[in-house]
Amino acid sequence: MKIGCPTEIKPQEFRVGMTPDAAREAVNHGHSALIQKGAGTGAGFSDEDYVAAGATIIDTAEEIFATADMIVKVKEPQAVERKMLREGQLLFTYLHLAPDPDQTHDLLESGCTAIAYETVTDARGGLPLLAPMSEVAGRLAPQVGAWTLQKANGGRGVLMGGVPGVAPAKVVVIGGGVVGTHAAKIAAGMGADVTILDRSLTRLKYLDDVFGREFKNQYSTAGATAELVRDADMVIGAVLIPGAAAPKLISRAQLSDMKPGAALVDVAIDQGGCFETSKATTHADPIYEVDGVMHYCVANMPGAVARTSTQALGNATLPFMLNLANKGWKQACADDVHLLNGLNVHAGKLTYDAVGAALGLDVVSASSLVQG
Ligand SMILES: NC(=O)c1ccc[n+]([C@@H]2O[C@H](COP(=O)([O-])OP(=O)(O)OC[C@H]3O[C@@H](n4cnc5c(N)ncnc54)[C@H](O)[C@@H]3O)[C@@H](O)[C@H]2O)c1
Repeated sequence: MKIGCPTEIKPQEFRVGMTPDAAREAVNHGHSALIQKGAGTGAGFSDEDYVAAGATIIDTAEEIFATADMIVKVKEPQAVERKMLREGQLLFTYLHLAPDPDQTHDLLESGCTAIAYETVTDARGGLPLLAPMSEVAGRLAPQVGAWTLQKANGGRGVLMGGVPGVAPAKVVVIGGGVVGTHAAKIAAGMGADVTILDRSLTRLKYLDDVFGREFKNQYSTAGATAELVRDADMVIGAVLIPGAAAPKLISRAQLSDMKPGAALVDVAIDQGGCFETSKATTHADPIYEVDGVMHYCVANMPGAVARTSTQALGNATLPFMLNLANKGWKQACADDVHLLNGLNVHAGKLTYDAVGAALGLDVVSASSLVQG
């Protein structure tokens, strides 16, 4: 197969769909890797790195879309890219179609086959191509929160780990899933005094078994949250209710009970945010203040560490990409129900129920397309 990787064109997107390592794997399996000139620059990969891996550098996105059998990307195709997709072409990337009728319409019209990273599943009921970005955002949260706590940034002027004779920062993490667990690990590693809250007793038992005394855990109620937040230097919001907007777990009124200069890091901002006063910010202007409390609410946190994020995403997508290239989408999806769950669009038909329900469109079952 000819696997094409264009440069990402969405503003502030520095990741790339294929690392040089992934290109080398594709070439080793007998495929060709076509990389747009400069596609890896934002993530720190040069054209020479790709050439050394056996890839071919192509000047323009137009040539890549015209020649490749499969397009591998990071972000959903933008309008100009969608115009270049064609019947029979395979698209493997994040799509997030449910809130995006224009993109859905264009993909259906193109006749392409589109597999969405975010709906590929794994045997444990997880989302293996979303998890790496949650790991990145979770590990980044205490790092940006620590920066926000510095005096010059409007923060309380508290050092995460304290020093001998001075107590460390108190960090509260709300939500103990992928983001929350990674955030708590890093905050504890920085020496902070960390408590994680979750609504799932199964999850709390897991955290207790695995992390023991590294950080405390507590059942998430409004009362417990209010008490911990009052005393916190930093609160990290990491809740998710699948398919729903994030619940508002800290009200504006509660901010006046908090310590002046405390930091709120709302990682759940991409689902609307879990603090009443959260509004999405960008890497260019990430923090703002409300009632004396500093807020960090960047909706695409992994973009700040584009190289790590590209490598983490590449590790997770590689086995699926190789199966798609080795077998073709139909056989690869027939052999792996988790990859089949990623199928959202095929030859003008929508194949993912939740997208159909959100947009009021008819859906054909994905499994019916790969049988026989
Ligand atoms: N801003 C970013 O750049 C970025 C990047 C990655 C993920 N995210 C977002 O971070 C959020 C968390 O993602 P995740 O992968 O960790 O999800 P996850 O499903 O692994 O974890 C969510 C956890 O929240 C818990 N929860 C639900 N309601 C709760 C409540 N009221 N109190 C306490 N806990 C509660 C659940 O039990 C679960 O353990 C999502 O909104 C995700 O979209 C944002």
